[in-house]
Amino acid sequence: MKIKSKIKDYSLEMIDQLLEEKKKIFSNLKYGRLFYFIDENVYEIYKDKVKQFIKDDFCLVVPATELNKSYLNLANYYKALIDAGFTRNDILVTMGGGILQDISGFIASTMYRGISWVFFPTTLLAQADSCIGSKTSINFDDSKNLIGTFYPPDLIYIDVNFCETLTPGYFNSGLGEIIKFHFMSDAKGYDLLKKYLASSDLRKNKYFKPIIWSTLEIKKSYFEGDEFDAGRRNLLNYGHCFGHALESASNFTICHGEAVIVGMGFANLLSLKRKIMARDKYNEFEQILQKYYPRFDLSKISIESLIHFLKRDKKRVGKDLTMILSKDIGMQFKFDDIQEREIIDAYNNFIKKYPMS
Ligand SMILES: NC(=O)c1ccc[n+]([C@@H]2O[C@H](COP(=O)([O-])OP(=O)(O)OC[C@H]3O[C@@H](n4cnc5c(N)ncnc54)[C@H](O)[C@@H]3O)[C@@H](O)[C@H]2O)c1
Repeated sequence: MKIKSKIKDYSLEMIDQLLEEKKKIFSNLKYGRLFYFIDENVYEIYKDKVKQFIKDDFCLVVPATELNKSYLNLANYYKALIDAGFTRNDILVTMGGGILQDISGFIASTMYRGISWVFFPTTLLAQADSCIGSKTSINFDDSKNLIGTFYPPDLIYIDVNFCETLTPGYFNSGLGEIIKFHFMSDAKGYDLLKKYLASSDLRKNKYFKPIIWSTLEIKKSYFEGDEFDAGRRNLLNYGHCFGHALESASNFTICHGEAVIVGMGFANLLSLKRKIMARDKYNEFEQILQKYYPRFDLSKISIESLIHFLKRDKKRVGKDLTMILSKDIGMQFKFDDIQEREIIDAYNNFIKKYPMS
């Protein structure tokens, strides 16, 4: 897949047994040395193969925590590379999920005003979603993703086999984004989603690679003309307005993509109440979402804290609240006139039907 970017065009490939394909990946590139940033869990789980892959190259093993994505830790990453003698001729190589991507992307975009960067995403969320689109994000105090740049990797290689070792929560987190993108596609995309979800073993079935590829194609179609998020790309926040508020209000005990699944259900309920979405559509989508709602005692999350976080939404423009509502497949619209009382009313309804355990 070739992706056009105002920063630099880049490309993405699917590859099997990535950790045995070093030659294939790097043989056509001109560079001095390779420097690796590797997710600690990935390093531990795939230790023998990873060691074989990196040989004597520089390697920094980083635990994937939001704290390590803080601006306070940036100095450590720059220092590690500078001390190891990183030059503009070298390549930063990242193995990990969205956290390692965000750290490395920010470092790659700022170190020497931009260095070469190759990314091997290892979570479903990073493979099907975050690896393209150029966003890099760093946390500031308790605010997530407040600092950032736009900077894509030069090359992305996806080996879906990495998903086999993800916890169910992190697998479902990627699934949440896959569902979102296909709700935002067309009849063909929706059909593929239904086939994928109906097949057994979601990590291995014959639709797994096609659904990841299709998710990336859909995302690309939304951001290529709006890389800096000034218009159509905004719609990708479907499920995210309420989802982000829920993530924050739950103190990040719910994974990002799982919160997006709940966020879509909530946005659909508001769409139903505003008569934007028809009842039969609502029921149809709800049937899909209910299966993947994280089992969680939603009654523990107060409506006051949700509204507090909804008010902090980066996409909010006026005095009212902002949310992406949906009419049907591929028909999502941004509303900036959502009232607090609508949220309260919908939340009271939503919580009654939510599978708590
Ligand atoms: N830059 C973007 O466009 C973008 C988009 C969406 C999300 N994000 C960010 O991504 C982060 C979330 O990323 P994520 O969901 O990919 O997860 P993550 O990077 O937080 O990793 C989740 C967990 O899975 C582990 N892990 C990673 N690969 C594994 C594997 N193959 N097997 C077993 N365990 C593995 C990690 O060690 C970690 O414990 C958040 O910080 C979010 O803000 C960035």
